[in-house]
Amino acid sequence: MTQPEHDVLKAAQDNLWLHFTRHSTYQKSEVPTIVRGEGSYIYDIHGKRYLDGLAGLFVVQVGHGRGELAEAAAKQAQELAFFPLWSYAHPKAAELAQRLASLAPGDLNRVFFTTGGGEAVESAWKLAKQYYKLIGKPLKHKVISRQIAYHGTPQGALSITGIPAFKQMFEPLVPGSVRVPNTNHYRADEITGIPGMTPEEYGFWAAERVARAIEMEGPDTVAAVFAEPVQNAGGCFPPPPGYWQRLREICDEYDVLLVSDEVICAFGRLGTMFGGEKFDYVPDIITCAKGMTSGYAPIGAMIAHDRLFEPFKNGEEMFAHGYTFGGHPVSSAVALANLDIFEREDLLGHVTANEPLFRATLESLKELPIVGDVRGSGYFWGIELVKDRDTKETFSAEESERLLRGFLSQALFEAGLYCRADDRGDPVIQLAPPLIAGPKEFEEIGGILRSVLKEAWARL
Ligand SMILES: Cc1ncc(COP(=O)(O)O)c(C=O)c1O
Repeated sequence: MTQPEHDVLKAAQDNLWLHFTRHSTYQKSEVPTIVRGEGSYIYDIHGKRYLDGLAGLFVVQVGHGRGELAEAAAKQAQELAFFPLWSYAHPKAAELAQRLASLAPGDLNRVFFTTGGGEAVESAWKLAKQYYKLIGKPLKHKVISRQIAYHGTPQGALSITGIPAFKQMFEPLVPGSVRVPNTNHYRADEITGIPGMTPEEYGFWAAERVARAIEMEGPDTVAAVFAEPVQNAGGCFPPPPGYWQRLREICDEYDVLLVSDEVICAFGRLGTMFGGEKFDYVPDIITCAKGMTSGYAPIGAMIAHDRLFEPFKNGEEMFAHGYTFGGHPVSSAVALANLDIFEREDLLGHVTANEPLFRATLESLKELPIVGDVRGSGYFWGIELVKDRDTKETFSAEESERLLRGFLSQALFEAGLYCRADDRGDPVIQLAPPLIAGPKEFEEIGGILRSVLKEAWARL
């Protein structure tokens, strides 16, 4: 190891505070340190190559090492490195807002920029509260969201999040958020107590829970429903057929805003620009971030329906909310260049064409006794691990700890696959490669998963 490499690893251990990380893991071993990326691959500080099975963190849609995005950033920094969107505009933010409006479904034409996803969620809740105050329904402020769903870490977004373990240390959080069941059809029997529901029946049942929650809270007090097109935490729960259509009807019936949190799902992850295109619905607000720049610069956005902007159009009202770096010129320029790549290379078409093969590759793992369920959409898949495939029995907390933290994450990484072994719900492995990945990468992913999962089973 060279001296500069040694210095980096020491600084990572001594000074860097990693996110969502048990630092005890790295008391004795070095922090895995990634120095470079190219296409669907990343390289660590020792030069070892890994397949990036998670696109960084559901971010790097066009793949690593794209010179043209780096050039777009440099050109913009030279021209206008920074100006805020506080009472002033700059060309790239305006152009990007117009482009997002043209891509978003329905009349979602007003774009409020942030620096990331949690801020977009935060912005959407605040807008929902203020909108209803301004149209004479001041009691409407509550939010309905789904169990185990992750919506970010700012205190409002965390309050909307449905993972108790992530919230407890920070309570009390923002009051007024209520949880309903998610669309985990694999566990539908346990969730509903009704055996054998079809996906359609379960989807209807789950959507009805939203209506019941609104009624129990009092429709006059509920402002918004937040849901992801495909729920990430818990392991990629797709919406059963009819689910989003029923949510739309319920929100219309009770005058509640439907917020589609697409921080992961937007920008091609499902093979479409936005989730509504894939599952045929039009929300009132989309929250998005991650893939907008493929991670070459940070940005997020709340895209709102025209009618939500109406009360702010005239008179003295303003949305008293903002972020210094929201819609940063460099990030906006990179986002535009990123969307150019999407068009030029038809990435949406590529994902749609390759989705069946990716799915088939992962579904072939169902031969293994440890694989209970394979689910997802586009390039966004979860593999649920179970102790008993027939009974769907899951692992105890201790077994899960031993399996996921003690073995799987590291074994997959050592075998050359960076992906996620997650236990925010039942134990799952998640795959979400860059959108440029294809048959060759799928084969590699499948091969590594197969051998590591076999070993995991043998160790149980
Ligand atoms: C659905 C969803 N919402 C919000 C967030 C928070 O985004 P960020 O980490 O950019 O704040 C995430 C992050 O993964 C997410 O998946």
